[in-house]
Amino acid sequence: MNFEFTEEQLMIRQAARDFAQRELLPDVLERDENARFPADHVKKLAELGFLGMMVPPEYDGGGMDSISYVLAMEEIAKVDASVAVIMSVNNSLVCYGLNRFCNEEQKQKYLKPLARGEILGAFLLSEPEAGSDATHQYTSAEDKGDYYLLNGTKNWITNGGSASTYIVMAQTHPEKRSHGINAFIVPKDTPGITVGPHENKMGMRSSDTHSVMFQDVKVPKENRIGEDGFGFKFAMMVLEAGRIGIASQALGIASGAFERAVAYAKERKAFGTEIINHQSLAFKLSDMAVKIENARNLCLKAAWLKDQHKPITVASAMAKQYAADIAMEVTTEAVQIHGGYGYVKEYHVERLMREAKLTQIYEGTSEIQKIIISRSLMKG
Ligand code: CAA
Repeated sequence: MNFEFTEEQLMIRQAARDFAQRELLPDVLERDENARFPADHVKKLAELGFLGMMVPPEYDGGGMDSISYVLAMEEIAKVDASVAVIMSVNNSLVCYGLNRFCNEEQKQKYLKPLARGEILGAFLLSEPEAGSDATHQYTSAEDKGDYYLLNGTKNWITNGGSASTYIVMAQTHPEKRSHGINAFIVPKDTPGITVGPHENKMGMRSSDTHSVMFQDVKVPKENRIGEDGFGFKFAMMVLEAGRIGIASQALGIASGAFERAVAYAKERKAFGTEIINHQSLAFKLSDMAVKIENARNLCLKAAWLKDQHKPITVASAMAKQYAADIAMEVTTEAVQIHGGYGYVKEYHVERLMREAKLTQIYEGTSEIQKIIISRSLMKG
């Protein structure tokens, strides 16, 4: 087993670190306050090749591996988790899904501009009454011969307003439950699509989250992904890869808060010494460091398995659940270490704590990850 990164992986990590520190840090507090979408930063992410990192070069992607993706995500999420989720959805839900499951014509038309980062994509699975229980899709896709007619509402859609290309899951044969669901590529400017207002979120406030309504939206048959009824399996296989991205985002949030807590503890004096010299605090930091290292290893293992084309269902669920849960713990402790300063915005840790919470909720709650892990234990 080799725990060393390659030269290329280290270069990608450094590029992500430089970008995050130089470009994202200066206005992250303002964008959080005003829930302002980072349009300029997204353009620069595209220039760096970070919006289609793992797409092969023949489809205009960066041809990078999943380990590099984890390293880049951690560095970006350390500074700005909103930018990290925009990047994660485009890379590991949209581009990954199109690259792995679409036909040549679909890839030429839809994957290439997404991989170049010219446009953004969004993944539309959740509904007002179907979040965790994803087999219960109420959005319908009626088969009309050479096209499908989509009706329904999708909720909590990251990139919902900024994306140009949607991947939409909808029910075609309700009697078949999960086997009746289809996935479609739907350009956002298709008539009949309405985007709801930007959600005023607790954290990750500058990523745009919207509801999307479909009223008699005509989608050509050639925009269906895979065979009739493949949509749910498609969504599950895409999500399990996507969870590596969100796990890495949670890892970055935790390590960002941790770095700030260590720096503060080395500087702040109380009872005649820097507070890091108090054992109660040093032990707290030590526990945080162990948790972060464990989360990092789980993320990297899941990424490695993906790169080896081995099963990742359980590994990605473990990484996502653990990294999200420890991100919540570590950021809460980072606020505690900062005392009153931790509760005000300039010190960043309260923002990181708000951001951590979302990682326990989206792309499958921590409880959903436990269902996935425990089912695999039951199967043996
Ligand atoms: N790979 C391949 N097939 C899979 C699969 C996987 N990982 N997971 C399930 N399936 C298949 C099953 O084998 C089954 O097929 P068969 O009937 O042929 O056996 C079928 O799909 C139905 O699966 P289940 O019976 O396991 O379905 P379930 O109702 O018990 O639910 C679940 C399973 C894991 C709980 C699933 O519903 C789930 O993952 N829910 C969470 C959804 C989620 O993560 N939503 C996030 C939205 S996207 C988002 O947040 C993006 C963003 O904007 C940031």
